[in-house]
Amino acid sequence: MAEETAKLEFPNGNSVDLPIYSPSEGLDVIDVRTLGKQGFFTYDPGFMATASCESKITYIDGDKGILLYRGYIIDELANHSDYIEVCYLLLNGELPTRKEKQEFCDLINEHTMVHEQLSTFFNGFRRDAHPMAIMVGVVGALSAFYHDSLDISNPEHRTISAFRLIAKVPTLAAMCYRYYHGHPFVYPRNEMSYAENFLNMMFSMPSSDDKPNPVLVRAMDKIFILHADHEQNASTSTVRLAGSSGANPFACIASGIASLWGPAHGGANEACLNMLEEIGEVSQIPKYLEKARNKDDPFRLMGFGHRVYKNFDPRATVMRDACHEVLDTLNCSDDPVFQVALELEKIALEDEYFIQRKLYPNVDFYSGIILSAIGIPKNMFTVIFALARTVGWVSQWSEMIAEKNQRIGRPRQLYTGKSKRAFIDIDKR
Ligand code: SDX
Repeated sequence: MAEETAKLEFPNGNSVDLPIYSPSEGLDVIDVRTLGKQGFFTYDPGFMATASCESKITYIDGDKGILLYRGYIIDELANHSDYIEVCYLLLNGELPTRKEKQEFCDLINEHTMVHEQLSTFFNGFRRDAHPMAIMVGVVGALSAFYHDSLDISNPEHRTISAFRLIAKVPTLAAMCYRYYHGHPFVYPRNEMSYAENFLNMMFSMPSSDDKPNPVLVRAMDKIFILHADHEQNASTSTVRLAGSSGANPFACIASGIASLWGPAHGGANEACLNMLEEIGEVSQIPKYLEKARNKDDPFRLMGFGHRVYKNFDPRATVMRDACHEVLDTLNCSDDPVFQVALELEKIALEDEYFIQRKLYPNVDFYSGIILSAIGIPKNMFTVIFALARTVGWVSQWSEMIAEKNQRIGRPRQLYTGKSKRAFIDIDKR
């Protein structure tokens, strides 16, 4: 793959030529794997400039605000495709034919139910347990039910595990909501679409035949598409690192759910709506912008900023338009929180602090408003993110495991602790 090299010169006069690889999209990379033999490590906390892997799944152009799933633009997928198609695309690399799509749907539908014994796990949690705490537990526990297909070197085991995760995570997510509210669990319905089935498992009641509102189903499906994958973000990198040790896919996805929970990552959607509600009204926005600009104040504008996007997060744009559509349909476009969000976005994008740091709304800025409009409570927001991202995690995990010379991930360090010293007996300390 290397066509050019970069020469690195060391203080002792030695130098080394490092291979440069050119991608199909994005920046060239310098292969530093031989640096250890030269007596050096690279140092890049937070991986600001480190490519951890080669991947063909998702590409982000942060400067242009472009997101591609297997080469397809996110806006076009969100507006013209549906989530189950996007799952097929991320897993297989191509959009399905009508026949392939139906066969894939049928395969996923074979696995939407969970073992009845898994339902008893929920009773071990307090009713008011955060749903993400439950999801970390029950998704990891899936590995206890599928001993017959945990050989990750077997492509068939990898495929059925992928289908089980994509099919069962929505069922478990809805069970978290139902358990929290003391409602009976609702079984999946295979005649429904993926998003419709999820909303039905969330909100249907034995006492009525109400079916999910098609506008909300479409919005839910769009939200799933927008959250499906996003290169080597913190939770995906967690899944890859866990998977590199040979851990089973259910344990790896559980580790991704744990990582996503953080407010700097997937937990930002819940934190963002809390922030918008705390701001409360447009007149309070300047006070909170001042807090965000104040280096001595830990407050950050949740839903703003991104490690990669230094332009608009294209998902935020699609989400904002979907927000307008849903709130108009539900006759609540004067929703005060939405008005605060629109005005906050406008003011922040004219503010020097945000302009200088290229801080724009990210995927989490508007998602909470739509999720609230759909009737989903804040403590379920990150669960929705985890549900949608499961296909991305599984696709990235599968890509890594299938690599010919796949190795365990084991970063090195810059050690600044104590050098070797003799033990001191307690009476002499
Ligand atoms: C997701 O990686 C992904 O792809 C993630 C994700 C995905 O789909 O998987 O896109 C999902 O996690 C979206 C991000 C959700 N998080 C939030 O909305 C939380 C608020 N945002 C910030 O915490 C922050 O912007 C991060 C964590 C998203 C990015 O952090 P970086 O890249 O480490 O940026 P930084 O902390 O170095 O910030 C650079 C500067 C700093 O100021 P200076 O020290 O240069 O003066 O910008 C400031 C920061 O203080 N800054 C903010 C800010 N974000 C960055 N100031 C106020 N409010 C903010 N939101």
